[in-house]
Amino acid sequence: MTTSHEELVLISGASTGMGAATARELAGRGYHVLAGVRRDADAVALKAPGIEPVFLDVTDAGQIEDVARRITTDPRRRPLRAVINNAGIAINAPVELLSMDEWRRQFEVNFFGHVAVTKAVLPALHTSGGRVVNISSVGGKVAMPTYGAYAGAKFAMEGMSDALRRELAPLGVQVVVVEPGGVQTEMTPHGIERAEKTIAGMTPTEQTRYGALLRAIINQAADFTKSGLPADRAGRIIADAATTRSPRARYTIGRDAAMLTRLPRLLSDRLLDRMMAANLKPHFPK
Ligand SMILES: NC(=O)c1ccc[n+]([C@@H]2O[C@H](COP(=O)([O-])OP(=O)(O)OC[C@H]3O[C@@H](n4cnc5c(N)ncnc54)[C@H](OP(=O)(O)O)[C@@H]3O)[C@@H](O)[C@H]2O)c1
Repeated sequence: MTTSHEELVLISGASTGMGAATARELAGRGYHVLAGVRRDADAVALKAPGIEPVFLDVTDAGQIEDVARRITTDPRRRPLRAVINNAGIAINAPVELLSMDEWRRQFEVNFFGHVAVTKAVLPALHTSGGRVVNISSVGGKVAMPTYGAYAGAKFAMEGMSDALRRELAPLGVQVVVVEPGGVQTEMTPHGIERAEKTIAGMTPTEQTRYGALLRAIINQAADFTKSGLPADRAGRIIADAATTRSPRARYTIGRDAAMLTRLPRLLSDRLLDRMMAANLKPHFPK
């Protein structure tokens, strides 16, 4: 067994939020973190002892190939302890109003991108007996209205992770899913900005059908995140999931996630519908 100082960890979406926090946490624990970013300025801001920024847009096949090559040609031949598939965007819109391009973009970033990164680094994980850590969400278990695309991609991530875990366990590679609840990051402000644009672009009929709903979702998301955990706390849990010797198949982040991810197993769909509607009601514009 090598010591942690001699191991690599790759994480996508490390410019802000949980990705940045996890990169700092793992570097502090002595790992060499390949931290995926998309902009020069983020690479400069992130660079630190134990953190090597790499350009990784998870929808860019060329960049994925370069990062996989960076791992297999590591000058010190360090093994890859884990890949943490963390990058993500949040698009909130009613199913009917979201363009097919936006539907596809949500899935390209939050699902297919992670499949592509995982496939590219699996040869290195087979060699190291390493680990895949997939960052899902409460939205991977419960789909609130206007979360069709986001939850769809996260449900896909959950299903793919179950299959992958069962494929790789006999081969000595572990697969772990992390399901955060509300965490204070850039995700909600960016998501709200997008949802405001959707509201602004609605026709009068669409406004009548969906305007108040999307406004309520924006208000609820803002509250949810305000009461969420700091990103550093989430980063510690993700770092544990990536490095603990015998990981669980799933970790939740936050008490909200621990409760919400269990509800679909405990309640009927109709009861869950009523509960969500009741929770959303106070957030509708007066
Ligand atoms: N915050 C929450 O409450 C919450 C709850 C449940 C699950 N999650 C999940 O947690 C993960 C991390 O999100 P976060 O909350 O830390 O949000 P965040 O601060 O917005 O971070 C998202 C990261 O993803 C990156 N990203 C976006 N598109 C990308 C692409 N095409 N290729 C590579 N990277 C890309 C962003 O990079 P740029 O800066 O370059 O855009 C950023 O580094 C996501 O998978 C999210 O779904 C978050």
